[in-house]
Amino acid sequence: MYRSHTCGELNASQIGNNVTLSGWVQKVRNKGFMIWVDLRDRYGLTQLIFDEERSSKELMDKAGSLAREFVIQIEGKVIERESKNPNIPTGEIEVLVEDLKILNSSKTPPFTIEDETDGGEDLRMKYRYLDIRRNPVKNKLIFRSKVAMQIRNYLSQQDFIEVETPYLIKSTPEGARDFVVPSRMNEGQFYALPQSPQTFKQLLMVGGMDKYFQIVKCFRDEDLRADRQPEFTQIDCEMAFVDQEDILNIFEGLTRHLLKEVKGVDVNEFPRMTYDDAMRKYGNDKPDIRFGMEFAELNELAQHKGFNVFDQQELVVGIAVPGAASFTRKEIDKLIDWVKRPQVGANGLVWAKYNEDGSLKSSVDKFYSQEDLKAWAEATGAKPGDLILVMAGHANKTRTQLSSLRMHLGNELGLRKSDEFAPLWVVDFPLLEWDEETERFHAMHHPFTSPKKEDFALLETEPGKVRANAYDLVLNGNEIGGGSIRIHDKETQSQMFKYLGFTPEEAREQFGFLMDAFQYGAPPHGGIAFGFDRLVAILGGQESIRDFIAFPKNNAGRDVMIDAPAKLDNAQLDELHLKLKL
Ligand code: AMO
Repeated sequence: MYRSHTCGELNASQIGNNVTLSGWVQKVRNKGFMIWVDLRDRYGLTQLIFDEERSSKELMDKAGSLAREFVIQIEGKVIERESKNPNIPTGEIEVLVEDLKILNSSKTPPFTIEDETDGGEDLRMKYRYLDIRRNPVKNKLIFRSKVAMQIRNYLSQQDFIEVETPYLIKSTPEGARDFVVPSRMNEGQFYALPQSPQTFKQLLMVGGMDKYFQIVKCFRDEDLRADRQPEFTQIDCEMAFVDQEDILNIFEGLTRHLLKEVKGVDVNEFPRMTYDDAMRKYGNDKPDIRFGMEFAELNELAQHKGFNVFDQQELVVGIAVPGAASFTRKEIDKLIDWVKRPQVGANGLVWAKYNEDGSLKSSVDKFYSQEDLKAWAEATGAKPGDLILVMAGHANKTRTQLSSLRMHLGNELGLRKSDEFAPLWVVDFPLLEWDEETERFHAMHHPFTSPKKEDFALLETEPGKVRANAYDLVLNGNEIGGGSIRIHDKETQSQMFKYLGFTPEEAREQFGFLMDAFQYGAPPHGGIAFGFDRLVAILGGQESIRDFIAFPKNNAGRDVMIDAPAKLDNAQLDELHLKLKL
């Protein structure tokens, strides 16, 4: 038996008991006549003591040879600790060691394995298995497992069944780039790793599975960000014989269940907002509604008053920043520089301070009277003490820029509290999106999404105006899920491919299997997929998903621990019928 207890378990009630513990040496304090060792495992820390008076010379010598990260097993007696540590559950006791076995030695770790470490990001990624020994990383993985369990609990209670779908599938041109896998047995042919199990889950509906889910790896070869990994996990779900309302209700239920079970939070409001409103009010299809600063369109109030910069623009739009009238000139200049960075790309920022005494002072006083500025304050909802910030330009671009500024200020002013949760459904997304580069429409969600019945006729005349039966789940300003009601008949699906610029042959070659299946009694169906890594990170109070993934890739898409991707040798390349262009 390696252990009778874990290192996080012993307390005063076990004083006098003999115990066996196994774990890693976190720290050794050697005073010569007395040696203390902090022993660590997944569950916590227990202090061990070796004492010249009570331990043999041989045992003292062995204890003296211990160093950080040695793996040891001890037997000993639980005794009361002289100087207690109220900060850890085992802080009242220590174990007087009677027997010590060194199970494995360890090289000196490249960084300290404690909550606060001296290891930089790169080093910790290279030795991820050591980083996982640290509480901040370990606890995130345990948290992830807990969330996954709760998801399975909720969905199985609702009669969902988990079905695995294949990882070696076929490349399709929509969406992100595929990761591809060469086939040895089929010369010149390639599998693709799924960007999501979308078509398979629809085929499961045709197969009568009715309520499907899967916690599943997806692969997308796209540029990486804090909330994106090339391989990530979805909670992928699909249901038959449902309309949008059914899906929103079931998955609102899942979100409520998770917030309750893993965070102890009861959500009152679960609002819905149309895509158009989200864009107009927040400049963003995933608004963080935990704080205000809603957009106010100021064209009527700010144009044709002599300030040329505004006059020709499609949109003049402002926000009121609470309590920010006290910003110094320097602080405002910093904001102006911030929006002018290429990442945001704004031309500038007009500001107006709504002073506590009710007067207004702006950067454009020459052109606007107090009355004019008061009208801006009213429109933006500014109160005395607030700062009004205004941008102008091309409507979509300006909304996006002001949205970046709003989020930046939300962070800076501490308005985005990690323990406050505000979910939101964004509904009525456009079906199609114009792509400047290819000069054609793309499916905004994916080509299997059904248009709203009442908008169907617009497909011929104004395709950009057609709304989809598509919805996103937003949590604290992050898109954590998206889905839609699907097309389930061959006719409509073929038409959709046509609108998306596929020739009938291309559609047949790429999605013939789906359209064939639709001819054998496909039920009405729809679904959603949550980004599991994102959901877990946000529930855990963070926006970067990396530490919630056991073995993540770095920003260049590399696993620096195993050093992947890597070259293949010539024999392997030959076998795969691949020739590299050098
Ligand atoms: P979508 O492409 O919106 O929908 O993806 C669903 C959710 O997956 C998460 N996500 C990611 N998370 C981490 N890294 C990435 N690279 C990444 N890409 C996406 C997001 C997103 O909301 N098949 C459809 C779903 C459906 O229609 O049912 C789909 O994949 O949180």
